[in-house]
Amino acid sequence: MAHRLHADGVTLRYDKRLISTGLSVAIPDGSFTVVIGPNACGKSTLLRALSRLLPPSTGRVILDGRSIGELPAKEVARRLGLLPQSSVAPDAITVADLVARGRYPHQSFLRQWSNADEDAVAAAMAATHMTDLSDRLMDELSGGQRQRAWIAMVLAQETPILLLDEPTTFLDIAHQIELLDLLADLNRKGRTVVAVLHDLNHACRYASHLIAMKDGAIVAEGRAAEIITEQLVEAVFGLPSIIIADPVSATPLVIPKGRPVPAIHTPDSRKQSA
Ligand SMILES: Nc1ncnc2c1ncn2[C@@H]1O[C@H](COP(=O)(O)OP(=O)(O)O)[C@@H](O)[C@H]1O
Ligand SMILES: [Mg+2]
Repeated sequence: MAHRLHADGVTLRYDKRLISTGLSVAIPDGSFTVVIGPNACGKSTLLRALSRLLPPSTGRVILDGRSIGELPAKEVARRLGLLPQSSVAPDAITVADLVARGRYPHQSFLRQWSNADEDAVAAAMAATHMTDLSDRLMDELSGGQRQRAWIAMVLAQETPILLLDEPTTFLDIAHQIELLDLLADLNRKGRTVVAVLHDLNHACRYASHLIAMKDGAIVAEGRAAEIITEQLVEAVFGLPSIIIADPVSATPLVIPKGRPVPAIHTPDSRKQSA
């Protein structure tokens, strides 16, 4: 399998805080890769390294055969779009202006705003249902609307590779599924998608390639059906669970065991109080 984007033996750190040591990961071209793992295990750090924001202290991240650190930022941004986990918009910017910033890597002194830019912005806003909100200020939007505006900005960048850090956080369940379906469509049309997701069942449904991380390392990777087991969920999240087949997609569906359900919710107790 071909891999335009891979990390080879990277050590990732923030000053003295070591996050990953000798980590290697390859993103299969054309895959919908989903990264899962508990809070603070290093998912965002990995995405930052893969997108050139965080230079590894050892090892290399390779994009199209070259060390990503040697490529100019704008060139990287034409091939790879990143939606960071928490993005803060500049004050008093409209949705349309924010999404238009996604076109920056395609512009130059000689090639300024063009019809191609206009089309890309319009298509990205339509895909995320933001067209009607285009004149609104970012800080006057709900969390979910704001998130969709950011996603529109990354889509407008029209990169063959998309890296999205928790794109469904802040979205209601319908908008989560809608966004995942949109990403699946983009993936079918040829884009490589890498997303960090917290919902294991969404991850199992949508990922063609799943990467499970813990403590800065990859614990398992492959197809959901191959790697998601009760043992893995326990090992990675410390969560006892039962895994059944998702009745819609037949992919693994993780049911947390949790504590026993309080008696008030059991059918017997309802009968007694009736
Ligand atoms: N800018 C930073 N400076 C120092 N430590 C950081 C920074 N960003 C993240 N960390 C730490 O690195 C670890 C991994 O963080 P992160 O990659 O964001 O985890 P995840 O995305 O899996 O929740 C955490 O312990 C976090 O506190
Ligand atoms: Mg994160």
